[in-house]
Amino acid sequence: MKLGKLDLGNKLFLAPMADVSDAPFRQIAKENGAGITFTQMVSAKGIVNNEFDALRLFAFSRDEKPIGVQLLGNDPHYLSQAVNEIKRYKPDIIDINCGCPVDKVTKHNLGAQLMDDPVLMGSLIKAMSSVADDIPISVKLRLGKSDSKINILENAQIAEENGASLIILHARSKNTQYKDEPSWEWVKKVKEVVSIPIIGNGSLFTPQDVKKMIDETHCDSVMIARGALGNPFIFSRYSEFKRTGIDPGEPSFKEIEAVVIKHCRLLAKEYSDKVAVIKAKKNIIWYYKYCDGVDTLISKIMSAKTIENEIEIIHDHTEKLNAGIYPPANRELVNQKFIERVLFWVDN
Ligand SMILES: Cc1cc2nc3c(=O)[nH]c(=O)nc-3n(C[C@H](O)[C@H](O)[C@H](O)COP(=O)(O)O)c2cc1C
Repeated sequence: MKLGKLDLGNKLFLAPMADVSDAPFRQIAKENGAGITFTQMVSAKGIVNNEFDALRLFAFSRDEKPIGVQLLGNDPHYLSQAVNEIKRYKPDIIDINCGCPVDKVTKHNLGAQLMDDPVLMGSLIKAMSSVADDIPISVKLRLGKSDSKINILENAQIAEENGASLIILHARSKNTQYKDEPSWEWVKKVKEVVSIPIIGNGSLFTPQDVKKMIDETHCDSVMIARGALGNPFIFSRYSEFKRTGIDPGEPSFKEIEAVVIKHCRLLAKEYSDKVAVIKAKKNIIWYYKYCDGVDTLISKIMSAKTIENEIEIIHDHTEKLNAGIYPPANRELVNQKFIERVLFWVDN
């Protein structure tokens, strides 16, 4: 797949994820085969107003390229200004979030709410694409407001007419929960009505899921979010599966350990000690979520005070996993909880 000057072949996309897809997470995903990564959504207004948090969220280094930056906004003025600001850092894609269903976003007429106003959405895409020079503008969409109000075909056409170079489609409507199956057939339908590339997204957890979505929908590539939490291996596993027809399977405990420790050290470099320790906790749990002894790991990791503490716990856990001392995990149960809520160990 070519996007302007960017040739992505059939590389996979790492999704934007708020509070997750920071520089350490992106680096680990890239090192394990993600073709392009994304920053989490950033307020266009925040960038224009030089707000520290907004500027920090879209910061990336040159080594991270190819990378996309995702903007959140509903005002053509702010979006075009933000693109003007960002383009000097040369991201490879600038995306507009038209899919976030969270109340604190939609109540401000942002994210998924934009799907209800195709005219406004078109004007935002036009405002961005008219100042983006050669940086492709993408639009991340869902199917519509609810399963009885699907308007993705109209929205996709409007996006293309207004200068979008790419559509990323999370194949659920705004009101559809994660536990409900996505409707991949809409990815295929969108592919049939527009000529720009389509990236399919929604419940891709294994290399086999990725292949199935591509085969069934003919999408140009796919974007992975939850399937990459504690599992950057999905990217390289898919490449190998595609190349040889054989899925190399889950990594060994030693291989996981090496990647988790690297991830922790990157977090320690990126953040203050206190913040790094907190961010490491959830990532560590995600890496080991399906392994035996996850409950023991959770209770130990929650009491860790430093990154070095966390690394000791990881070493110890790896030894115990290799020695096979834990009772077998209930993988189905953990998976069910994780699908409903990524922080599956935290009470509601
Ligand atoms: C923790 C988390 C944070 C997310 N943050 C964003 C975001 O900032 N921008 C966005 O467009 N989508 C966001 N999403 C949605 C994902 O990008 C993706 O569209 C969705 O999870 C479906 O993909 P999946 O089934 O592979 O998880 C987020 C999802 C998760 C789980």
